[in-house]
Amino acid sequence: RAALSVASECVPLVKTGGLADVVGALPAAMKAQGWALRTLLPGYSTVMAALDRTTEVWHAAELFGGPARLLAARAAGLDLLVLDAPHLYDRDGTIYLTPTGFDWPDNPERFAALSMVAAEIAGGALPDWRPEVVHVHDWQAALTPTYMKARSIDVPVLLTVHNIAFHGLAPSGRLEALHLQRIRFNSEELEFYSQISALKAGLVDADAVSTVSPTYARELMTPRFGMGLEGVIASRAADLRGILNGIDTGVWSPETDDAIAPYSAPSGKAPNREMLLAEFGIEPGPGPLCIVVSRLTGQKGLDLLLDAAPRLLAMGGMIALLGTGEKGLEGGWRDLGERSPAVGVHIGYDEGMSHRMFAGADAVLVPSRFEPCGLTQMYGLRYGTVPLVARTGGLADTVIDANEAALRAGVATGVLVEPDDAQALGAGLERLVALYAQPKLWQRMQRNGMAHPVGWEIAAAEYAAVYAGLAS
Ligand code: ADP
Ligand code: GLC
Repeated sequence: RAALSVASECVPLVKTGGLADVVGALPAAMKAQGWALRTLLPGYSTVMAALDRTTEVWHAAELFGGPARLLAARAAGLDLLVLDAPHLYDRDGTIYLTPTGFDWPDNPERFAALSMVAAEIAGGALPDWRPEVVHVHDWQAALTPTYMKARSIDVPVLLTVHNIAFHGLAPSGRLEALHLQRIRFNSEELEFYSQISALKAGLVDADAVSTVSPTYARELMTPRFGMGLEGVIASRAADLRGILNGIDTGVWSPETDDAIAPYSAPSGKAPNREMLLAEFGIEPGPGPLCIVVSRLTGQKGLDLLLDAAPRLLAMGGMIALLGTGEKGLEGGWRDLGERSPAVGVHIGYDEGMSHRMFAGADAVLVPSRFEPCGLTQMYGLRYGTVPLVARTGGLADTVIDANEAALRAGVATGVLVEPDDAQALGAGLERLVALYAQPKLWQRMQRNGMAHPVGWEIAAAEYAAVYAGLAS
């Protein structure tokens, strides 16, 4: 059976966050469920450069201001459809930002074009292939069902919300430029406080909606987490599912990871730990070596960790942080790194380093204010690196808190703390240090984590059930 997956990022071709990991892992996972996915991506210069053999399968003289063509290609086991439209995607800077760090002013058009072409494909634009289901991810692909509806293309669409914080807003004056129907610009449909919202359009028009954890699915209906879209989400409650992401255990397994000294039991972490301390120039202490691998944004709560860190350091804990993002946070962490010999900070993005960190660390810290799913706590579980996480979204759905009940039953895998509360985080870090000081307990938690199911199998079966329900 055939499905089209549409997204702005996909591992290993282009990634800014977990969305890319999920979009890149889904095709192999769904193949095992009998679904062949083709993935439609924008032809950013980096993506174009990574393709070797391509076949043109469609073209248009004019797509949002310039010519465009669709190239079929295979890369890293993926069956790709790449939208080559240089006027939209051949640029310096990042895929979303200008070289000076601002959103590209034409981002609404850049991703509307992606959605428009997805609608074309669903409508039969390719000579020999048509999907039974279209699966679109986040606001960048969310106008797909809206364009399909305008043209009465009757293929079912699933919209997956990876992060409701990003709405894909555009000024209302761009309605015509975005080829949207003025009649639909009202607060029940495309309008969000007098702007156009691509995500809202998708939430209204998709046949089914999913998000990336059951807890986030419930949180999305509340004003605290719904970011103004809680009402629209609630109106789709009957069609909303929370399907917990997996991680790609082909890439993330300590037994087979060639970036590290491989291991299959917690004791095998020791040489990796030595190397990690050296790599980050951290002075060894008696407490746990904690890591953070993250975008540095308000979502991730790393300002709270800056506040709480002194409590961890006072107990002999250590921190190695790898991340990029907001300048204020980068500066705050750089400062702490310079002031404290027990803290090492790398500002940047580095896959290989992130593998070495999960292998060498005792614990991974994920104190997010909200977290739709989160992947790094699952890498932590798989690597015997005990996660300390905020009790929100997918973090709450993947980690078993070491409370008295879980410890007695021998099932704990980590520490949960209340989100958005530096005091609670500090108390959680104290709990972490106390657990670390009890080697038997700690090793049990490590082994529990390593055995916890974090692969794609369960999620793939759930997506397959949704696809089948939609396509029947
Ligand atoms: P989000 O998508 O909100 O950023 P996730 O936890 O879902 O959060 O996914 C983040 C992904 O990006 C993970 O695969 C993580 O390892 C990776 N990542 C984030 N920052 C860095 C970095 N500085 N270097 C290497 N990998 C990073
Ligand atoms: C988003 C979320 C993150 C999630 C990822 C993949 O980037 O912020 O929590 O893991 O999407 O679904």
